[in-house]
Amino acid sequence: MPEIPVHRLISARRSARAFDPRRPVEDEKISAILEAARWAPSCANRQSWRYVVCRGSSLAALRDCLNPGNYWAVHAPLIAAAVTRSDLGCRITGRDYAGLDLGLSMESLILQCVAEGLIGHPIAGFDEEKAKTALAIPSDHRIFALIIVGYPGSEDILDETALAKEKAPRTRLPPEETVFWEGWGKPRT
Ligand SMILES: Cc1cc2nc3c(=O)[nH]c(=O)nc-3n(C[C@H](O)[C@H](O)[C@H](O)COP(=O)(O)O)c2cc1C
Repeated sequence: MPEIPVHRLISARRSARAFDPRRPVEDEKISAILEAARWAPSCANRQSWRYVVCRGSSLAALRDCLNPGNYWAVHAPLIAAAVTRSDLGCRITGRDYAGLDLGLSMESLILQCVAEGLIGHPIAGFDEEKAKTALAIPSDHRIFALIIVGYPGSEDILDETALAKEKAPRTRLPPEETVFWEGWGKPRT
């Protein structure tokens, strides 16, 4: 947990795995998390994110694309595929911004999940080609992540490995390793 107070949406968010398989996400809440994603900042306002929301007929096929370690996600009632293509975003002196735009939008979606009492857990552990086929996503687009969404539920659905992760404290590198002051590698004075 953050040692310095931050907004509750940030301190309360965690990539939890214990979903309630019996509780669907209400339409209004789905609209709210997608609206949050929509209002994210993006380079030159290119909005280079695309989402494929799966809660009905596509869900079974998408569940079949999960890596074994992400089996817990089969219990979630909604999965959103977060998609982009590099030329949807800006390219500025060789820097492609599509992935960054998508990530900013994903974080907005995930924080809105927290505000709605939902878990929003991004995962990269899935078979992308299989998922693209299942969702008819054009071959020149990439699925960067699946966002697993639903209400928290009982930890009984988790195996020992997933339960250990669920109970583990959230950790972060010390700021000295990731933030420098007044120049690269310089500590805070
Ligand atoms: C791009 C990305 C990919 C991730 N892939 C997985 C995954 O495949 N399986 C998983 O359980 N968690 C996955 N996570 C969640 C991270 O493990 C998690 O964010 C990290 O351990 C920090 O924990 P916290 O989100 O609870 O603070 C992913 C997160 C991100 C941003």
